[in-house]
Amino acid sequence: MHTELFSEISKIAKSIKKEKRILVVSHYDADGLSAAGIIFNTLEALGKDFEVKIVKQLYAEEIEEIKADDSFKLFLDFGSGQYPMLRGIKKFAVLDHHLPAQNSERHANPWFFNIDGSTEISGSGLAFFLSRKLVAEDSLAANAIVGAVGDMQDSQGKLIGLNREIAKIAVNANSLAIEKDIRLYGRASRALPYMLCYSTEPILPGLTANPEACIRFIEEQGIELKENGRWRCYLDLTKEEKQRFVSALMMHLSSRGIPEWKLQKLIGEVYSLVKEEKGPLYDAREFATLLNACGRHGKPEIALAVASGDRGNNYKKALNLLSLHRKELREAIEFMLEKGIEERKNFYFFNAGSNINDSIVGIVAGMLYSALLLSNKPIIAVAKNSDEFLKVSARATKEQTMFGLHLGKIMQRICSSIDNAEGGGHDVAAGAKIPAEKLDEFLAKLEEELGNSDNKH
Ligand code: C5P
Ligand code: C5P
Ligand code: ZN
Repeated sequence: MHTELFSEISKIAKSIKKEKRILVVSHYDADGLSAAGIIFNTLEALGKDFEVKIVKQLYAEEIEEIKADDSFKLFLDFGSGQYPMLRGIKKFAVLDHHLPAQNSERHANPWFFNIDGSTEISGSGLAFFLSRKLVAEDSLAANAIVGAVGDMQDSQGKLIGLNREIAKIAVNANSLAIEKDIRLYGRASRALPYMLCYSTEPILPGLTANPEACIRFIEEQGIELKENGRWRCYLDLTKEEKQRFVSALMMHLSSRGIPEWKLQKLIGEVYSLVKEEKGPLYDAREFATLLNACGRHGKPEIALAVASGDRGNNYKKALNLLSLHRKELREAIEFMLEKGIEERKNFYFFNAGSNINDSIVGIVAGMLYSALLLSNKPIIAVAKNSDEFLKVSARATKEQTMFGLHLGKIMQRICSSIDNAEGGGHDVAAGAKIPAEKLDEFLAKLEEELGNSDNKH
């Protein structure tokens, strides 16, 4: 129930009010960074002495390091799966939406209250409700939508549950607009032909990776490519032009054999941060990608600055990181399409070694999944983490989970049976860090788990 979750959040708010010094520890992806940005603004408004630390994952060694600091610790977007390891810390609270290991005091997690933490609320949504308790401000609600979209909580075509409540609060605060429109990346910032040409989710047959064909396609619809010498993006089109563009695209895709249900997924809710200038921060999904770009490329301080409102120098640096991120993703996808993936009995598999950065290998796995139109079994990707460890990222479709598949639980279970392995996550997206020499054992256990009728569709 929402009221019980809110009462847990109120308790955490009370503890924070009493504390002099707070150490905020959050996750380096868009959701964790949005959550950290919300809490940064809130603690600043309260005049608290605080510090924000952003890490890749709450691994055992991070926890050891944090223990030494004697301030009150606030964990955002992780902590639930690692709860047993937090026991040695004196004063702390957890706001997380990952599957929890155990219930306890000052631990706000939607799963305890029958709220689905993979679709109804994310880490930044929880941070927003905490912020609201502390400073009674609605202006940060839109930032929580960025986090939710970053975690793909809108993958069914729209935000639901508490995310929807937050979106309504943001609309009332005049910081968000919700519209039904085409869900292609770059509608607010990419030159129209490049929105098509660079689309990998989904791949647009005949258009993706073919700029001339994209330009021709747009010209054939009688749509001007440029205005005053500058490329137009999708948001620059008139309402009538947008309609013409979308229906032509649908016809094109349908004639190339894309099934109706896939076409329908292209249309859905889009979330615009209307107080931002038109550009990569205007669309929630693009904003999330920008945060991911900084966080996952070793510059979380830049992401945090942008997430908490800096539109100056840090924003410029973030734009450069965004280009780098997109380039790295493109190259990784090209590499994988060339190399191909391996089909095993119960999953698809690829080991990118050190060819793909371990911080983006999960995103690559997700993109490959749609690029290759895979759907019947999960995809498991591996990349080098360090000399001793490998990073595992797993992705599945929502449809597969309808029959009981839960990648996060599987990762947790397998890792608890392998020394020095740590893993967890959501039903459709999960990850792990495992000792390099344990890969074969890990994969054998995975075959077994996925072959198990409870986990299979
Ligand atoms: O740790 P956290 O919950 O913030 O991250 C969730 C991750 O799962 C994100 O990287 C998001 O992109 C990914 N995800 C996905 N497909 C989904 C849902 C989430 O790849 N359908
Ligand atoms: O890193 P990746 O994007 O593949 O992570 C997918 C999901 O699995 C995220 O929600 C992440 O927080 C979770 N995860 C985890 N434990 C790990 C690695 C990832 O809970 N060791
Ligand atoms: Zn999250």
